[in-house]
Amino acid sequence: MIGLFSALFKQGDPALSEATVRDAAAIAALHGKSFQRGWSEDEVEGLLTERNVVAHRAVAGRRLVGFILSRVAADEAEILSVAVARASRGRGIARRLLTLHLGRLAGIGICTVFLEVGEHNAPATRLYARAGFREVARRVNYYNDADGRGSTALVLRRDLMTPNSASQHTPQ
Ligand SMILES: CC(C)(COP(=O)(O)OP(=O)(O)OC[C@H]1O[C@@H](n2cnc3c(N)ncnc32)[C@H](O)[C@@H]1OP(=O)(O)O)[C@@H](O)C(=O)NCCC(=O)NCCS
Repeated sequence: MIGLFSALFKQGDPALSEATVRDAAAIAALHGKSFQRGWSEDEVEGLLTERNVVAHRAVAGRRLVGFILSRVAADEAEILSVAVARASRGRGIARRLLTLHLGRLAGIGICTVFLEVGEHNAPATRLYARAGFREVARRVNYYNDADGRGSTALVLRRDLMTPNSASQHTPQ
């Protein structure tokens, strides 16, 4: 019986919510496993205490399996990082996190969202393309790959429909 419950629990979708400073250690650990240059726990803690940082997490049981984090300035935001634990990838968790996150950004009046992504990062470029991001610039040799070669970063942009912009388009 216990086995049945735990099997059902494992298959359930992770719960999404805002991340707080208490998630710093888990986010730093997941970031470290997902990127060549990881963030320290102190760096993540610093980010999560900034008033202009918006962060969401995906939690399965008690385990953090995904996060997304942006910094906002005026009516623009930059997505600084998004990652999903390797064992949980390909199940739509990043898509759900991104949808929630963009909704929150729109709700606080953000009109435009930018981010940088490696041109060969297929899951990430696909995730962003599906979410309506479009390429606006290319930064050649921007990343240092593990093999010592440089690779190109794409700068992507998506405009959001905020409550203000929606009311501006309401027919008179
Ligand atoms: C990018 C990342 C966050 C995606 O997380 P995820 O939860 O697996 O993504 P989803 O399941 O929501 O899938 C998103 C899209 O990527 C596609 N995708 C997933 N894995 C893929 C793969 N290995 N190759 C190609 N496309 C892939 C999915 O099919 C989906 O596209 P679709 O909606 O058109 O079917 C995850 O791969 C990751 O953490 N990578 C390491 C960190 C990273 O590169 N972050 C992005 C930096 S900008």
